This record gives sequence, structure tokens and C-alpha cells, in this order.
Amino acid sequence: MTARLALLSDRWRDRVEKAVTFLAGRGFSGDVGLILGSGLGNFVDQIQDAQAVPYGDIPGYHSTSVAEHVGQLVCGTAAGVPVVVMQGRLHPYEGLDPAELLLPTAVLACLGMQSVVVTNAAGGLNPLYRPADLMVIRDQIDLHWHDPLRGLLRDPLGRAGRAVGRVPGPLRPYDSELAEALAAAAARAGVPVHQGVYASMYGPTYEARAEITLLRRAYCDAVGMSTAPEASLLHALGVRVVGLSCITNPARETGQPELSHQDVVEVGAKVRDRVAEVLLTALPQLRASVR
Ligand code: HPA
Repeated sequence: MTARLALLSDRWRDRVEKAVTFLAGRGFSGDVGLILGSGLGNFVDQIQDAQAVPYGDIPGYHSTSVAEHVGQLVCGTAAGVPVVVMQGRLHPYEGLDPAELLLPTAVLACLGMQSVVVTNAAGGLNPLYRPADLMVIRDQIDLHWHDPLRGLLRDPLGRAGRAVGRVPGPLRPYDSELAEALAAAAARAGVPVHQGVYASMYGPTYEARAEITLLRRAYCDAVGMSTAPEASLLHALGVRVVGLSCITNPARETGQPELSHQDVVEVGAKVRDRVAEVLLTALPQLRASVR
């Protein structure tokens, strides 16, 4: 059992271990993991010696119901770095409880990733952000109103196998050194990036205007419906986390048309080559700076 599996609660560990054993038996291993959000999945075209397994074939995994999320795990080499990539993710609003939602993220950690890049499509809250801008995530506010890690981790006080609520909290879920490395790589690739705070809402409805006002007053720069639970879990399991948001729309103001998932995906499609370029440029540093 890897050291990270030992951090999971009894209730969860066997399920995660089954998937890890299945994947490790098929040669899935790597140094850097990537979770690719809405419309950003084409990074997998850059992977050499790629092998892929649909989520539905992995023990315990659910297939994602979100359009544009392919739903497969891919491993291989990108920019000389062994990677394991989640092409598509599950979302809280798909109605799954956190144990189902976060299983693929726990598996990524337990396959031995040293760092994981979490990407997403997000609405801009910062008035300076424009559609197709990128933002390196420096911190997050998880507005799902309950801790997604409840019952998933072993009692930190050491009582064997009991899952209790209190676990070391994610004071800094995002790794500053890797965030700087990602921003520097983006600059080298000629892609300017913002750095800011990501707010994660439950979804699937987009925010009401009062919620947008609230988030802005809380100094959030971008808003989406994913990422925060994954980042908290990865951090709790000792994985270094770096986040990248693709701003697909400005937060809606009065008079703007309704935002649709299609709008989000269309902007994602426009910038996904740029995102792939940034990730490829950054990958060697994301591994090299792993302690
Ligand atoms: N809000 C929440 N999630 C999103 C948005 C948004 O405006 N855009 C893309 N994902």
C-alpha cells in the first residue's frame, strides 16, 4: 500500500486501491498529473506513447455526463515528462457524493504523482479579465458549503481506520513555487496570465447577480464549479497542486445575454491550443521543482 493510500479512511481506501491496482497493472504511472476541464482536453494530442482507458472501464469510476468531457484517463510522455491525464472530470452538480466525485483524484495521487495541474473553465469576476484570458490560481474559496473531504481521510489522531471530520486543513492548497513556474512558463510561451483567487460554486446554475457581487466583494477573481475539492484533497494527500483557469466569459452584468454551457465550450475551444502550449512549456519545471 502506498503511503497515500494509508491516509484514506477505511470506507474509501479499498475502492481507491482497486482502481490503482487496475491502472498500475496497465502501466499507468507518472510524475505529473493533469486534470483537464471543459473544452481543454486537446492537450492529450501532445502526449507521446499515449495509452488511454475510458473511465467506464476503470473499477469504481463513473462516466461524466457533461458534454465536451471525453471521460478517459491517458498516460504517456509530454515534453519529456511522464504524465497521467484526466481528460474530463466529474462535477459536484452531477449529483454524486464526494466519495464518487473525488475517487479519480485520489487515484491520481495514489498512482504517485508528485504534482498535479488542475485546469478549468471559469467566469471572470475581476473587471480586468477578458474572455480567453488565463489565470494561474493562487488561492480558492470553496462555496460548496460542506467540506468535500468529510469521511474520506483517516483520523489524523491515529485511531485506526476511523474517519472523522478533522483533518489538516488546506491553508495553502496551491503551491507558490509551482504557480510562479507556471506563470513564468506562460510568459516564455508568449501567453500573458493573470494570477488570482478562484471561487468554486456548486452549480449547475450560473450565478445570480447578487452572488457575483458577493464574490467580487470577497476579492474573488474567477468563478467556476470544480477544482476546489480536488485541490483540497490533493493537498491533504501531499501532492503539490497548481491551478490554471481559462476565463470563458465575463461575470454577467445586467443586460448581458444568458450564458450557456455552449458559450463556455466555444471560448475553451478557441484557447485550448494556447493552454496546451502553456502546459507543455511548464511541464519540465513542474517536475524539476518538485522537492
Ligand atoms: N460561472 C460558473 N462557472 C463557469 C462560468 C461562470 O460564469 N464560466 C465557466 N464556468
